[in-house]
Amino acid sequence: LMATQAPVLIAPAMNIHMYENPILQENLRKLRRVGYEILEPGEGYLACGYEGKGRLPDPEAILDQIRWQLKKKDLTNEKLVVTAGPSREPLDPIRYISNRSSGKMGYALARAAARRGAEVVLISGPTALMAPPGVKLTAVNTAAEMRQAILDEYATCTGVVMAAAVADYHPAQFSADKIKRGTGSLQVRLEPNPDILKELGQRKDGKLLIGFAAETGNLEANAEKKLREKNLDMIVANDVTREGGGFDGDTNIATIIDRRGATRSLPLMSKDELADHIFDHLLTLRR
Ligand code: CTP
Repeated sequence: LMATQAPVLIAPAMNIHMYENPILQENLRKLRRVGYEILEPGEGYLACGYEGKGRLPDPEAILDQIRWQLKKKDLTNEKLVVTAGPSREPLDPIRYISNRSSGKMGYALARAAARRGAEVVLISGPTALMAPPGVKLTAVNTAAEMRQAILDEYATCTGVVMAAAVADYHPAQFSADKIKRGTGSLQVRLEPNPDILKELGQRKDGKLLIGFAAETGNLEANAEKKLREKNLDMIVANDVTREGGGFDGDTNIATIIDRRGATRSLPLMSKDELADHIFDHLLTLRR
């Protein structure tokens, strides 16, 4: 197996306690890190008599994964900057203002783009995720740092995918000392952050710009407004109040809207699958 140049997919199946054993989990992480794909086992009745996670996935699921992994390299002409995760805006050395973004959508995009042959720079706020193989990771905290990291790559990239949940505001003042508990209420004044995507849209320079719109109502109208105002080529809108479409999960329910006005509502799917739909759509725009 170590001698093969082919993509490798591992489908572990075993007793639930073996599967959850930290040594095994660490080994799976190590394999992922060097580029092996791991298919999560299914849940249910196990051959050893236990119930739980450890079943070999259905042949259909394995086949789907193989098809996906062997997808052709159709993004080799792209150098994409992908942003992911939340930004963190510090109040004092201990506290910050942030949001519930897990970074999973951005990391799924980076993984899909790299697998399809793109050169990928992943600019990420703090997350618990590991950079996908073959992706250059730049770690940032604040919106201002994220903006700078993007601008550093902008001249040489072909497109930017802004999946990061950038904070719209930061505390007006950073206290170098820890803010102590007082008796009354405490007011924090917030100043606006730069709208990074809007700035890129003004500059444009022939780059393909893809934004995200996380909404709690009026999905398409709000998303279209952002598409126009930020001068984007495509926007991926999702209603975060819908079951399976919110922050932090492994799935999403999205509507893709592009600059020509084409709208595509997608059903509930994994963030990995959605990432591929987004790049399929990018290729239709390129054509
Ligand atoms: N975005 C950005 N810079 C910001 C805020 C958002 O680049 N300071 C990007 C996001 O990464 C996303 C898109 O803009 O791709 C839309 O983000 P969203 O927060 O939904 O939109 P806002 O323009 O901030 O509008 P609002 O929060 O009022 O809905």
